[in-house]
Amino acid sequence: MTQLAPVITIDGPTASGKGTVAHRVASALGFSVLDSGALYRLTALSILNQQIDPDDANAVAGAAQVLQVEFHQNGVRLAGQEVSELIRQEQVGNLASRIAPNPALRAALLDRQRAFRRFPGLVADGRDMGTIVFPDAKLKIFLVASAEARAQRRCNQLIEKGISANLADLLRDMRERDARDTRRAVAPLVPAQGAHTVDSSNLTIDQTVQAILDLWRASF
Ligand code: DC
Repeated sequence: MTQLAPVITIDGPTASGKGTVAHRVASALGFSVLDSGALYRLTALSILNQQIDPDDANAVAGAAQVLQVEFHQNGVRLAGQEVSELIRQEQVGNLASRIAPNPALRAALLDRQRAFRRFPGLVADGRDMGTIVFPDAKLKIFLVASAEARAQRRCNQLIEKGISANLADLLRDMRERDARDTRRAVAPLVPAQGAHTVDSSNLTIDQTVQAILDLWRASF
């Protein structure tokens, strides 16, 4: 039987620090990274650009199927255009969350996500990495943090980038998005079977990364 490369999945709500933590864990182990949320954000950007109706499930899935995506060292290009900053905008993230329940869209992105699996290993971050995309992952993490801690982090990030931000608005958006991501019928945000829950509300990034690396070493 061909052996598949090992996978660590990191699922969790928006702004739980998944992205940063996934990159740090991957670099410590020499693994590749899949930022699955970026694929949903890229689809959202693509339908915005093409003025596709977000409620037209087939058209949205069609847009995902033909996405021309190139992940590179410092970001991502869509149809040759650098869009790393653009896809991080709240408007794009909110649209991504809105279209994400579409089963045809999720099916369209499935093989694209699995294609990231390669030796020596992959760290995949998202909402359904451990439940749907890589159910056979060797280590599954459910990374959580309180909505207040996440809103504060997002606020700091935006202010650092010189973008004005309002904590109360961010907290409200975050709660709405959590509710949508958790309650949707298809691939909801729930801990995978066998997942280890890591609460980063009171941990630094270094401590969170270390906790995951310790769990990885303990998994052998
Ligand atoms: O992780 P993120 O905030 O970049 O993800 C943006 C949206 O994409 C999120 O609100 C829900 C959706 N998403 C998803 O449904 N499944 C994933 N594996 C990753 C993201």
